[in-house]
Amino acid sequence: MNYQLKKPESTDGARIYELVKACPPLDVNSMYCNLIQATHFRDGCAIAESDSGELLGFVTGHRPPSEPAGYFVWQVATSESARGLGLAKSLIKSVLDRPEHSDVRYLLATVTPDNVPSRSMFQSLADGWGVELVEEPFFEKDTHFMGQHDSEVLIRIGPFKSVSGE
Ligand SMILES: CC(C)(COP(=O)(O)OP(=O)(O)OC[C@H]1O[C@@H](n2cnc3c(N)ncnc32)[C@H](O)[C@@H]1OP(=O)(O)O)[C@@H](O)C(=O)NCCC(=O)NCCS
Repeated sequence: MNYQLKKPESTDGARIYELVKACPPLDVNSMYCNLIQATHFRDGCAIAESDSGELLGFVTGHRPPSEPAGYFVWQVATSESARGLGLAKSLIKSVLDRPEHSDVRYLLATVTPDNVPSRSMFQSLADGWGVELVEEPFFEKDTHFMGQHDSEVLIRIGPFKSVSGE
C-alpha cells in the first residue's frame, strides 16, 4: 500500500475526527480539539495519506512541559484496511525523525491494559530499538475517571540516543 506521511493542515482536522470516530476504543474528542491538534500542535502530529488522498492514519502527541526529553503519544489510529502493515509505527517514527524532536529520548503513552493491538505496537517499537518499556499507574478508573473509563497505564520507552530511536 502506497502512502505519504506528513504534518496535518488545518483542513485535515475534520477528517481526523472521522477517522478517530471509526477507530474504537479510542475516545472521540471534539472536532475542535482535532483542529487544534492539526494546527497549534501539528509539529507533534502526522497523517498518512494514500495516493488517492484517503486518510489512512493519524498520530497526535506533544512534548510534555514537565518532561522535556519525552514525546507523549496521545492517540494513534490507523484505518482498518491499513492495519498490520507497520503504519502506526511509521507514523510515530516520522514524528521522532523531525529535526525539532532530535532531543527526544523517551516515548511516552498511556494504554488501557486490555488494548492488545496498542500494547503490541508499543512493545514492538521498544523491541526494535532495543530499549526498555516500563509501566506505571497514571490515570486510575475511580481516582481520575469517576469510574467512567478504564484505568490508563503510563508506558515509558527508552532511553534512545538519536532520532528514530536508533
Ligand atoms: C493500535 C493500532 C494503531 C495499530 O496500528 P497498526 O498500523 O496495525 O500497527 P502496526 O502495523 O504498526 O503494528 C505494530 C506492531 O503491533 C503488532 N500488532 C498490531 N495489531 C495487533 C493485534 N491486533 N494483535 C497483536 N499484535 C498487533 C504488530 O504485530 C506489529 O508488531 P511487529 O512489527 O513486531 O510485527 C490500530 O490497531 C488501531 O488504530 N487501533 C484502534 C485505535 C487504538 O486502539 N489506538 C491505540 C491507542 S492510542
